[in-house]
Amino acid sequence: MEEKKPSTADILAKIRAQKAAAAAAAGETQGAPADAPATPAADVSTSPPAAATPAAAAPAPKPPAAPGAKPGSTKDILAAIRAGGAKPAAAAASVTPAAAPVPAASASTTPAASAPAAAAAGPRPSVQEMLKAVREGKAGTMAAQPASAAPAKAASVAAPPMPAKPVATAKAGKTEPVRRGLAGLSTVAIFSAACFVLGFMLGSKMLLVSGALVWALLMTPFAAAWASLLGIGGIWTLGTARFMFPNVLVEPPSKFKVGPLSDYPINTVSNKWKDQFGIWIVHTDQYEGRNMIFALTSVCTHLGCTPNWLDGEQKFKCPCHGSGFYITGVNFEGPAPRPLERAGLRIAEDGMLEVNKSVKFQEEMGQWTDPTSFVNVV
Ligand code: FES
Repeated sequence: MEEKKPSTADILAKIRAQKAAAAAAAGETQGAPADAPATPAADVSTSPPAAATPAAAAPAPKPPAAPGAKPGSTKDILAAIRAGGAKPAAAAASVTPAAAPVPAASASTTPAASAPAAAAAGPRPSVQEMLKAVREGKAGTMAAQPASAAPAKAASVAAPPMPAKPVATAKAGKTEPVRRGLAGLSTVAIFSAACFVLGFMLGSKMLLVSGALVWALLMTPFAAAWASLLGIGGIWTLGTARFMFPNVLVEPPSKFKVGPLSDYPINTVSNKWKDQFGIWIVHTDQYEGRNMIFALTSVCTHLGCTPNWLDGEQKFKCPCHGSGFYITGVNFEGPAPRPLERAGLRIAEDGMLEVNKSVKFQEEMGQWTDPTSFVNVV
């Protein structure tokens, strides 16, 4: 069965009764009633938390004092401690019976704990020496402390650990990758753009895929934005440069030489220049009974198709609507409304036949009589 815990009022009343009894005993034996009551009073007033717990507040038996030691006031005890005497230490021990559960750290931090040793060994250590001793013996002191006994005080004694010094390379490590990144990403952007441009120009899928892979693997959003800007600027520049070179239809020259007269026998049609220049060279004596050479354009006068010379039938036949033309170029069948047209022809200074397609001669207009529309063969 549990005992009923005494209340704080009971404890205080008990302590006061003990104080009165001690004062009476001191007055009888030593004749110094003024000092004796002061000690327990100081004890109670300075350690109220200890009195709050029954174990600590229970009037502990007074520790055996050294022979001849007198309990003094707190002020006297502190003065004696500062002076380094052994007697005040003993007095302090007797004055603070409830201070027994106080952790060793508190004892080690007060000069009173080291005072007896200092008095016995010689001169009293300085404050710096005591602090040094406390710091060096911190581990042992902490180990000796109960787990629940004033950890905050031990923490205040222990020197806080020095913060880790920032590594000197941290700053460089922060900026260096940026520089490396810019250079590397610029290289990647140029490489990818070159792959894309060459891939488009050469039609190489391998280059396009390579550029896309490099772009996807190594690009960051920042570099991608810059590369896109540069790419758009490059495309814009190329478009502007292309605009400076307008489309030009390259046509064959309007004047060209087709060889000497001897290359074209009478009553023959040469297809040699049809594909390249769009003309036939005709040598015939069937037009008005005159032996002549002329150049006929290979354009149907119906709707512009290209007729074919049928050597077996000795006629030009248009494949589109069936128009037919004699060897002279005069139409005789189909929808063609008029004869084929002649181009200019002359004998050049070197004796070669020279065709001039820039001029046209139409039979229905009476232009075939123009001497520049044919060459007489004698
Ligand atoms: Fe030649 Fe119609 S285009 S016959």
